[in-house]
Amino acid sequence: MSDNSLSLPLILEGDDKSCPLTNRIRKNYRHIRKWAKRTSTNCFRIYDRDIKEYPLAIDYYDGRFCVHYFSFSRDSDEPEKDHYDGAMNALFAIFNVDETKIFWRTRIKREKTEQYEKADISGDFFNVIEYGVKFKVNLVDYLDTGLFLDHRETRQIVANASIGKRLLNLFAYTCSFSVHAAFQGSSFTKSVDMSNTYTSWGRDNFTLNGLSEKNNPIVRADCAIFLEEERLCGSKYDVIIIDPPTISRSKKMDKMFDIQLDYVYLLEDALKLLSPEGIIFFSTNSRKFSFDETLFPELKIQDISKKTLPIDFHDPKIHRCWKIFKKLS
Ligand SMILES: C[S@@+](CC[C@H](N)C(=O)[O-])C[C@H]1O[C@@H](n2cnc3c(N)ncnc32)[C@H](O)[C@@H]1O
Repeated sequence: MSDNSLSLPLILEGDDKSCPLTNRIRKNYRHIRKWAKRTSTNCFRIYDRDIKEYPLAIDYYDGRFCVHYFSFSRDSDEPEKDHYDGAMNALFAIFNVDETKIFWRTRIKREKTEQYEKADISGDFFNVIEYGVKFKVNLVDYLDTGLFLDHRETRQIVANASIGKRLLNLFAYTCSFSVHAAFQGSSFTKSVDMSNTYTSWGRDNFTLNGLSEKNNPIVRADCAIFLEEERLCGSKYDVIIIDPPTISRSKKMDKMFDIQLDYVYLLEDALKLLSPEGIIFFSTNSRKFSFDETLFPELKIQDISKKTLPIDFHDPKIHRCWKIFKKLS
């Protein structure tokens, strides 16, 4: 779908020869803007640690900017003055943006939020568009914004595979995989997440796009328990997306979740719900994760990480992703 009302800022021209950061952001944005217009997307990355001296990532969310700072120091993650001024001045010079539209995210803030709890209380929600689909985001109050931009292409791949089919979305967060799939014509989606906050946010995302909950139920549950119960019900799915956190602790879970230990049972249990020609997409952000394919001799496991890297992300290790299906006997 194309949204002709999508407005993206024009670049203010300037002479950046003496400022490599401004120069790079301007170049990146010029490139991504064309792509964004074409695809009806107004949330994307405009800088991805491209210059070693500027350890930042900057994301654009419909007129607002989210700056992630990767501190060189172990003791403090306050941005160094040069980095802070460099980024602010670049954004002022290129976009003539108001300071109040620039949001810095630091590790200290992340630690304060202890996993998936609330960090702030601004209530400042707004909508963005990705490939013509709307999502509610918040750059201030939560550990993450509501939409993981690095999985933009993975969402397209999963949605395409789900056309006319049944999708199960495990660790669904704000249901972005299921919303895209429902939008593209999946026959049914079910999204599972243990957080009340994110299941309710997911519901809002379906509503925003005029998609009914009847064919797209959202379940608040620990995925481990859900998988057992769903098997007893005899439900089957054609596509299952599993994108868990690296580790997760919660009172709502019987035990701590650790991707490296738990991926085996997750996959085994998900396979029991998979239709004979079904596909599992499995993804992780853990850089240390190692997939022991020999544990699953009956499966075909394809590493599709390269295909899932969006054009605005320059770190090929941002996430990894596998497409998994049963070998034909
Ligand atoms: C990395 S996010 C998932 C991102 C999501 N797949 C997406 O692309 O938008 C992790 C999510 O897993 C949920 N979560 C963590 N442990 C869980 C568990 N044992 N059962 C269900 N959900 C869990 C968290 O509430 C959080 O929303």
